[in-house]
Amino acid sequence: MILRNPNALIWALSAGLRWHVRRSTRLTLRLSRQSSTATTSNADHGLTIDGNTYATDSWTNVPPSILAQYGRRLHIQPNHPISITRKLIESRFPAFQNRNELPAVVTVDQNFDSLGFTQDHPGRSRTDTYYINKDTLLRTHTSAHEVDVFRDNASDGYTISADVYRRDAVDRSHYPVFHQMEGALTWDRNASSSSEDLAETIMSSLKKLPKHDLVVEDPNPPFHEERNPLQTKYHTPEEAKAVAAHLKRSLEDMVVTIFAAADKALAASGQGAQGEQEPLKVRWVEAFFPHTSPSWELEVWWRGDWLEVLGCGVIDQPLLNRAGVSSRVGWAFGIGLERIAMLLFGIPDIRLFWSKDQRFLSQFDESQPIRRFQPFSKYPAAPRDVAFWLPKSDGPVVVDTPASKTSAPSAAGGQVTEPMSSETPSFHENDLMEVVRNAAGDAVEDVSLIDSFKHPKTGRQSLCYRVTYRSLEKTLTTEEANELHEQIRQELVLKFGVELR
Ligand code: DAH
Repeated sequence: MILRNPNALIWALSAGLRWHVRRSTRLTLRLSRQSSTATTSNADHGLTIDGNTYATDSWTNVPPSILAQYGRRLHIQPNHPISITRKLIESRFPAFQNRNELPAVVTVDQNFDSLGFTQDHPGRSRTDTYYINKDTLLRTHTSAHEVDVFRDNASDGYTISADVYRRDAVDRSHYPVFHQMEGALTWDRNASSSSEDLAETIMSSLKKLPKHDLVVEDPNPPFHEERNPLQTKYHTPEEAKAVAAHLKRSLEDMVVTIFAAADKALAASGQGAQGEQEPLKVRWVEAFFPHTSPSWELEVWWRGDWLEVLGCGVIDQPLLNRAGVSSRVGWAFGIGLERIAMLLFGIPDIRLFWSKDQRFLSQFDESQPIRRFQPFSKYPAAPRDVAFWLPKSDGPVVVDTPASKTSAPSAAGGQVTEPMSSETPSFHENDLMEVVRNAAGDAVEDVSLIDSFKHPKTGRQSLCYRVTYRSLEKTLTTEEANELHEQIRQELVLKFGVELR
C-alpha cells in the first residue's frame, strides 16, 4: 500500500520553480526499521575545500562527485551560456554592484538562521542539503549571503550570482549544482523626512524605470493579512506598496529583456514565427519565503505553459536589522540561471552546461546576439531497470516520480512549506540518486521510479527504478552501460542493505 504523505520531506519551492509541486506529489511509505541515509565517510580526515580544511562529523554528506564539480565557476566563465545569462540580467540593473565570487562554503547560520528559517524547516534536512559538518554546508541558495552583503552596505542595489548545491533527482532539468542570482535594492529611510516622503521617493524612482508593454496579471492586493502579510511592525502600507510596485516593475522589465532576447534567438533560427506570437504575458502569484513578506513568484507564459521564473518580496525587516542596517527598506529576488539559459539558448539538457566539449562551448559568444544552441548529436539511450526489496524499517521512505519539465529547484519557500519530519528516513530517493551520480556521473540522463509496491503478506516494500544511460558526448556500448549498472546495483546493496530482485 502506498501512503501519500506530503508532510514528508518537502522543503518546497520557489524561485520560479515548481519544486513544491514535485515534492508534494512524492510518495511516502512507511517501513519498520531506522537506517541511515547515505553519507560519505571522511570521519578522521576532514574535508579540504578551497584550501580550508573542515572537520567532518556525522552530518557530513558531501560526496566526491560534488567536490569534483566544485570550483568550475560557470557563471563567470567567458562565453559560457550561464555567464551570458547572468550578464544579460545584470545589464537591467546598471547601478547595482555585482558580487560573483563569494565562496560556496557557508555556515548553517548564513544559509538558514540569518534568513529566519525555522528550526524545523525541511530545507535543513540532510536528505536535501550537502553538509560539510553540522555547522557548515554548501550553500543551497544565493540568499545565504544577503545578510553579509547588506552588512557591507556598499551600494543601494546588488546582485549575487553563484553556484548553489542541492541533493535532488536526476533528470534533464535537475543537477545537484546549479546557479542562482540574488538581487536586492534598498532605500535608507534616514534620507527621507517622513514615511510618506520615503514612499514618495520610491514611487518617483519607479517612474524612472523603463516602460514596457507586457501583459501583467496581478489579481491580488499588494498584501493580505493571512495569505501575504504586510510587516505591520515595521512598514506602513504606503511604504510596502511602494516597495512592491518598484519590485514588480523592475522584475517585469528584466523579464521583458530576457524573453525578447529568447524570441529574437528563436526567430533568427527560423523556429519562431515572429509577429505571429502571442504577446508576452506574466502573472504575479502570492508566495511564502522566510526572508520576505509579502512575497511573490513571477510566472511567464512561454510557449503554452506558465513557467515559474523567480521568487521575490519585501525584505524581512529583522533580517536587515541583523545586518545592522535597520534604517533600510527594500526588495529582493532570487532567480535560477539554468532555467533561463535553457530557454534562452534552447539547451535541452542541464548536463550540457558542464560539458567541456568544444562542440558545445564554441557555440556561445558573449559579444554576439543570443543564438539557439544547435544539438551536435544525440546518442542512443540505454535504459536499465533496477528492482529491489527495501530492508524492513520503521522510518519513512521517500520516493518520487520526477516531473521532467520542472527545472532548477529552489530552497526557501514558495507557496507551501511543510515542517521537516523529525524521523530519519529509512530510505530517501536522493540517496539513491547520489549512488547513481557517484557511479555513473553525467552518463546518466534520467532516473525515474517506475514501480513501487508493498508485499501483502510480508509487508516488505519493493521499488523499481529505471536508469537511463545516455552520454552527451559519445555512444555508450552495451558493456559500458551494463558495467555502470552493475556497479550501481552493488552499491545499493552495500549502502542500503536492499535485496536485489
Ligand atoms: N532563496 C530563494 C530560494 O532559493 C529564492 C528567493 C526568493 C530569493 C525570494 C529572494 C527572494 O531573494 O526575495 O528558494
